Formats: sequence, C-alpha cells, structure tokens
Amino acid sequence: MNHSSNEKNKIVECLKNSLRHSVSAHNSQPFQLKYFSEDKIEVWAMRDRLLGEADNENKAFYASLGTLFESISLSLCKLSAPYDVALVDMINIPNEIELLSSIFLVAVFKIYPSQSRTDEDKELCQMLEKRFSHRGEFEKLKYELPALIDLQSCRIHFIQNKMDKKNIAKIYDEINYKFLSKKNYAKELYTWMRLFSNHKNWSTDGLNRQALNLSLIEAIGAKLILSTFLHGVLKKIKMLKPILSEMHYTAHAPAIAVITGQSTNAFDAGRGMMRGWLALTKLGLYGSSMSALLDTEFSRTKILTYVNSSDIAIYGIFRVGHLPADKQFFERIRLPSEITFQEIRN
Ligand SMILES: Cc1cc2nc3c(=O)[nH]c(=O)nc-3n(C[C@H](O)[C@H](O)[C@H](O)COP(=O)(O)O)c2cc1C
Repeated sequence: MNHSSNEKNKIVECLKNSLRHSVSAHNSQPFQLKYFSEDKIEVWAMRDRLLGEADNENKAFYASLGTLFESISLSLCKLSAPYDVALVDMINIPNEIELLSSIFLVAVFKIYPSQSRTDEDKELCQMLEKRFSHRGEFEKLKYELPALIDLQSCRIHFIQNKMDKKNIAKIYDEINYKFLSKKNYAKELYTWMRLFSNHKNWSTDGLNRQALNLSLIEAIGAKLILSTFLHGVLKKIKMLKPILSEMHYTAHAPAIAVITGQSTNAFDAGRGMMRGWLALTKLGLYGSSMSALLDTEFSRTKILTYVNSSDIAIYGIFRVGHLPADKQFFERIRLPSEITFQEIRN
C-alpha cells in the first residue's frame, strides 16, 4: 500500500507503542517486529526469553502473542485514517525450546485500511497507556460493580462474594505452591529476575527489583527463597507454603474479575485478556493477573461455576480494585525499540 511518509511514521509509532503497552507472561517480552513496506509485519521471537519450565506447552507464549496482536489492532485506532491488523500466518513452535534457533519467526500480520473500527475499539485504545498491574493491596471500591460486562469478543464477570473469593484464593495458593515448590521452576525464576542493581542485565527490561516494586528486604527474601538450598530446606520444614501465600491479597481484593469467551485457542485468549484488562482500566480498576488458575482443568471448571456463564473458556483472571492513594508507581521497563523493532523499506 502506498502511504504518505507522514502516515507511515504514524503506523511505525503505533507499532512501537504496541510493543511497549502489550503485556507478556512473566514480562518476558520475547517479540521483535519487522515491518515491511507493503504493510506486512513479521513477528520474531527470541529463544532466550522463553520460559521452558514455567510455560512448557508454550500456551502463555501464544497468549502473549495474542495480547501483542490486540494491542496493535487497538493502537491503530489512533490514526486519523482507520486501519486494522489481520493474522496471515501463525507458526507452531516445538515444546522443546532447545530445538529453536536463537531468533525464530512466529507469525505474520498484515495492516489494512478498515472502516469498521467500533466505539469500543476506540475507547479501549485510549486505555493502552493507562493500564498497569498492581500486585499489592487495593482500596475499597468507590462504586458498585456490575455483575457482568459484555464486550465485543469476551465478557467480564465480577466475583465479589466473600466465600467465593476465599475459595478461589485457596485454590490459587495450592496451584502456585505446586509450581513454586518445583526446584527447576524456582531456579528458572531466579535466573530470570534481576534483584540487585549490580546484575549485568539490571536495566534491560521490566524484571528488576525496582520495576517489580520490591523493597531491598523483599529482594533479599526472594533471593533466599529461590536459591536452591534454602528452597529445599523451607519446603522440608513446611515454611515455603506460608511464605508464598497470596491468600490475604486475593481473599480481600474488592473483586475477582474473570474474562471469558468462546475460543479455546491461546492466541484468542491473549487477545481477550488484553481487551478485558483495558476494559477494567476504563472502570478505574487496576489488576493483578492470577494466570496460574488457568493451568489446571480442575481450577478452570471450578471458576466457571462461580461465574455462571455459557462461555467455555477463561481468557484471564485478576484480582482487581482501586490503587491506594499513596501508591508510588513504577512503570515496568520495556526492551528498547532498537532491539524489538525494525522497519524494512523496499
Ligand atoms: C498470558 C499472560 C499471563 C500472565 N500471567 C501473570 C500472572 O500470573 N501474574 C502476574 O503478576 N502477571 C501476569 N501477567 C502480566 C504480565 O506479567 C505484566 O502485565 C507484564 O509484565 C507488564 O507489566 P505491567 O502490567 O506492570 O505493565 C501475564 C501476562 C500474560 C500476557
């Protein structure tokens, strides 16, 4: 497609912003975009940013690809001439990440002029820069939440009943503990996090202590818990479970938001997760994702019974509420666009 150079620059800006504002599981930020003159986008991924233990079926990886796609689609609403993005091809990657090249192609997208951008798209586009995670305590709700919000491709259900929140908190703790008590998972997490400023990759992305909002004491605690020796000892003396518990935060959150939909595909789930999260932002709510609850058949089925929906899939689940007034916010650092973006002109 022939664009004026002004229009082209705006599309490039949208793509860079999408990379900045889309979310990725564990904040792994694995993607690089190559944008070609004919409006084709190749999405490549960096193997060393994948999480073999935490995501051994690559579901979170494809969900992250879906959140990137949705962010691109929504951010294109900013342009005065409306555009949208289509999925042209998606490549299935093997579960064994060692089999992949250091950088590999995962999908091809195409930008096209579109006359059908909806008001919902435009409103959610405005939320892209306002969405942040908040993983601590929330303030009380300033207004009543509806039981359900209907969006174009998904729905948000709010669980506010005390007993239901407590039950979900229990299930969440059980699943989290199962994961975190695995020695290899703790090891992977430890090598992934940058807890101290002398780490060689401290400022590369959003996984350092500052971006994770951890105090120095909390970082020392995390180092001790995740280090293999203490991890084993704590597990043996049954101290690991109470240390890892998020019971209080989950059970006392003003609400648990469940985003549901009709597709069982991870890419669609990621799209719905992003859309739902932005709709929560529009309501003035911050969220802490609790994706571990989507990892077992038992927890998925159980959550669906709480929301009484005809949808068959859960795209995302968050504890949500308002940000405490005194909360100082650190935006998670993103990979620089010199690493994640390349424009290729013919
Ligand atoms: C598929 C997927 C699963 C996620 N699961 C979790 C989760 O279980 N816990 C969590 O705290 N954040 C989770 N996130 C959120 C990201 O870690 C987070 O949004 C991202 O690192 C960007 O940080 P920000 O939300 O502060 O901008 C998930 C994101 C995606 C795409």
